[in-house]
Amino acid sequence: MSTTFSRRNFLAVSTAGAAATALPAKTVLAEAASNGATANSAGPAGAAAASAKYVQPSGERSLVIGSLDDLEKRASEVMSAGAFAFIASGADNQITLRANRTELDRVRLLPTYLVNKPAPDLSTTLLGEKLSMPIITAPMGAHGLAHESAEIGSARGTGEAGTLYTMSTAANERLEDVAEATNGPKWFQIYLHDDRALSRDLLKRVKNAGFTGIVFTIDAFAPGASDDTVRMGFSFPPSLPLVNSNTPYFKSRLGWDDLKFLQDTIDLPIVMKGVITPELANTAVERGVAGVQVSNHGGRGLDGVPAAINLLPGVVEAVNGRVPVIMDSGIRRGTDVFKALAYGADAVALGRPVLYGLALGGSAGVKSVYERIGQELERAMLIAGASNVDEITIDFIYDDDAPNKRASQG
Ligand SMILES: Cc1cc2nc3c(=O)[nH]c(=O)nc-3n(C[C@H](O)[C@H](O)[C@H](O)COP(=O)(O)O)c2cc1C
Repeated sequence: MSTTFSRRNFLAVSTAGAAATALPAKTVLAEAASNGATANSAGPAGAAAASAKYVQPSGERSLVIGSLDDLEKRASEVMSAGAFAFIASGADNQITLRANRTELDRVRLLPTYLVNKPAPDLSTTLLGEKLSMPIITAPMGAHGLAHESAEIGSARGTGEAGTLYTMSTAANERLEDVAEATNGPKWFQIYLHDDRALSRDLLKRVKNAGFTGIVFTIDAFAPGASDDTVRMGFSFPPSLPLVNSNTPYFKSRLGWDDLKFLQDTIDLPIVMKGVITPELANTAVERGVAGVQVSNHGGRGLDGVPAAINLLPGVVEAVNGRVPVIMDSGIRRGTDVFKALAYGADAVALGRPVLYGLALGGSAGVKSVYERIGQELERAMLIAGASNVDEITIDFIYDDDAPNKRASQG
């Protein structure tokens, strides 16, 4: 195999081992291009078919959704096993992936009754952007694995739901086309290149295309490799290149100088994603970030990191209202959104369910995902007694240590 790591060369490589051994020390692959073989394959045999065109789910349809959790199984039936595993799985023993759910499930809520509240209003404003609900799309690479419309479909569906789309650097569609596709607000998530000039060019395009915020992800050094994708010999199909970067290798040694570089290079608010400790949150705010996103990358990074919902309160306390706090990782229900907001998040981001909606119904499927979780949140607010998102406070959290009390009274 070639040792020249142009995207074309890398993507033509057919085995995980070959790609991994020749990896330059300072760089990482985009999540979208991190193993071997083809995404069509369910096993190493698929490696032989590396040049075959990946068959993408297609079709536009609204979805009837019981729960967002149902979508995982339904999506697995329309996607190749490798592509599904790439999206669904987490790192190593998937402890963090599971904890994101179990810890959200552990949180108990206490409604307030007889409060005579008006009908819930889900709308909110995030860094000046008006949203129909406090739920946005998290940045994810390689939407082409899920559907032929790729990021065009997910952006359109998110916009039609009236909320904010975050586009990943590791996308299959040109950022200008994605920007055009949504009629809603849009941010761009940046993976930096070692070569600053490449990043400068990309950021210039981002600004010109009309994105209004930058999400700076700080926790993605080697994501994307789960046990399942390794077993299956999964790799990103050559027919789905990452079209916005000249390479799938991104800067893996990040420091505060990289935040400074972004601040000096682009005149847009910067949200730091992957903020997990109060110290990090405080320093980020002191250094001028416009927002922080509490996230463990959906359990795709370091396995064993606590659940995002457990990390949220410390970050909220450190930030102390200076900038908005967004939380992602594990959000599947309206009550999950309610819990995150009660613990002080201003909004949450949805990851995998957006890709499942995309796989099952294109942009209409994505819109259906938002409609369903929006209905659930509305119902939760109605029963709990909160008429707008600002009224969702810690008062609704039941304190396990002081039975029958609210966490705020404990
Ligand atoms: C397939 C996939 C690709 C992802 N790619 C990126 C990415 O390119 N940039 C990024 O900041 N986060 C990426 N993430 C992480 C998400 O932004 C988000 O943190 C996570 O999916 C939230 O967890 P959830 O899927 O449980 O909702 C990716 C997640 C998935 C599932």
